[in-house]
Amino acid sequence: MKSLFIEDNLEEKKEILLILKKYIQEEVITVSSIQEGIEFSENLDNKIGLIICDYHGHSQVLIKSLIGIRPNIDYIIITNKVQEIEALLDKKQEKNLSKVIDRSQGVIELGPILEKLQKKNKLSAVKILDSEFMKIHFNSFKTLKPLGVDLYIRLSEHKYLKLFKKDDSYEEEDLKKYLKKIKEDFFYLRNTEVKFLFEKHSRKMGSFLESKTFDLKESRNMIESNIDFIHEMIKKVGANEKVQELTKKTVTLTLKVIGNSPKLSGILKSMKRTGKGYMESHSLLLAEVACALACRVDWHSSTTFLKLSLAAFLHDITLQDDSLVHIKLLSELDKQSHLTEAQIQAYKRHPIEAANYAKEFREIPPDVDIIILEHHERPDGLGFPRKLHYRQIAPLSALFIIAHDLLNYLYFTGRAGSLSEYVSLRAEEYSKGSFKNIFKILQNEFL
Ligand SMILES: [Fe+2]
Ligand SMILES: [Fe+2]
Repeated sequence: MKSLFIEDNLEEKKEILLILKKYIQEEVITVSSIQEGIEFSENLDNKIGLIICDYHGHSQVLIKSLIGIRPNIDYIIITNKVQEIEALLDKKQEKNLSKVIDRSQGVIELGPILEKLQKKNKLSAVKILDSEFMKIHFNSFKTLKPLGVDLYIRLSEHKYLKLFKKDDSYEEEDLKKYLKKIKEDFFYLRNTEVKFLFEKHSRKMGSFLESKTFDLKESRNMIESNIDFIHEMIKKVGANEKVQELTKKTVTLTLKVIGNSPKLSGILKSMKRTGKGYMESHSLLLAEVACALACRVDWHSSTTFLKLSLAAFLHDITLQDDSLVHIKLLSELDKQSHLTEAQIQAYKRHPIEAANYAKEFREIPPDVDIIILEHHERPDGLGFPRKLHYRQIAPLSALFIIAHDLLNYLYFTGRAGSLSEYVSLRAEEYSKGSFKNIFKILQNEFL
């Protein structure tokens, strides 16, 4: 059964529609005047079960005739004239669950009223098996427009509500606003539509790489969105051929962004300029910083850049909890009181598991899995998973470890932290073996 939504104010329309879509699975017809609403409901071929009317005018006559048309359905009227409209609703033969909302209180009451209707089975959520859905991080598709897929939220086991329909025109801001309200970063998509999303990512990347114009900001956004999507897909379906193909395309674009001779100072400056958080750009920033360091130690072959970028994309792939990406030592895990034992174990295993995923890639350069496996080792042997000492850590891994550590430091200090402070702080730790030569670059540049 459809619902009819009458709203004569454009601004409020967006806000109320967001709430309606959370609770109403079926189609919501929107009209912009009571007159139109009356005409729509007078046509009995239009099957409707609920009318929501946010009316800013003062003519009770119009509201009265609207309420009179369908005696057996529910009405939700948002108005300044609460008592008068309540009296009108009382006159309906069968009151059902009709409600009046006092506009001066905002539309905060709307959600609970719709929830009540839902519980009385007046509005139904769709019962679909959990296995038919995939939870997808918002970052994974925010660059795709139009999206062309339905977005759901999960209410309970096997119960989903379609929140945004594929034909709806909604902006990134609408989605963000909604996720903020429900304190989530994820939507649910039907498995079949995830495939569609995948194709879309891949096509977009293909034409982007082929295009003659190059936009740095757009490229960065696309890389970040792709990395998130690749992570989701690898966790769910493994590194299949299509995932590998998209990863390769994303690395190709990353290498284009990095350029032939990346400068650390430039990267850190642009990090400040974009104002993006460490978390949002962790993998891409790591690829950039690692390549900039490699460039300074004269390891600037395209193969080295490729290895470092791939390792940066895949190193934390199995981490479920974003808050863990900045943990360097196992001892820091103790401070994370929200973690279960299973999560702690998964964290300890993540370098091994991520390295195994990397091995699944065809034609991947040989050292990538080693870099991933060693990315939490420390020169003093206090790292994990194998507690290697500096002599046992591969030179490229050492460079990656320093780049990662530098980013962590910037994260902890809110990017305002002084780099010279970082360099003095770590001088002792990185004074041996291959760590020493690489760290010297930072000392020369920032001390
Ligand atoms: Fe990690
Ligand atoms: Fe990391």
